[in-house]
Amino acid sequence: MNFNSVYNCPVIPLGKIHNRAGNITVIEGETKLPFSIRRIYYLYDIPGGEGRGGHGHKNLYQLIVAASGSFNILLDDGANKKIITLNRPDYGVLVVPGIWRELFEFSSGAICLVLASEEYNAEDYIRDYDKFLSYKQ
Ligand code: TYD
Repeated sequence: MNFNSVYNCPVIPLGKIHNRAGNITVIEGETKLPFSIRRIYYLYDIPGGEGRGGHGHKNLYQLIVAASGSFNILLDDGANKKIITLNRPDYGVLVVPGIWRELFEFSSGAICLVLASEEYNAEDYIRDYDKFLSYKQ
């Protein structure tokens, strides 16, 4: 049972330390995020037209950032859907547990950085959309 909705998935401004030689964005666990970071991974070299994601998680919190380039993320809680374009490295979308997500329309050279609350656990995935809908009932 999981009652989280897409409205619990805000776009979070991460801030930017700017100078003329470039920018730094800092993400410190638990200061800007409602979870401690236990895993970082990133998607890159995504061929044009490919999509990723297509699953939900039972317990995992994630912050998803377009560290380079842009892509769209569809969030779906079984009742509501929301599409967000991520195209700035100083903003991230919080994806709480119990949300189906799909990533698509990656720009050339896009890097999708993911900060996650747990180490990889295949048991935490729901990969079948009908099972996801049953889980959300
Ligand atoms: P998957 O999460 O299905 O990719 P996406 O949702 O982005 O399309 O992961 C693809 C493969 O990588 C799958 O075999 C599981 C493996 N994987 C790990 O071993 N560890 C991880 O932390 C992640 C994210 C994936």
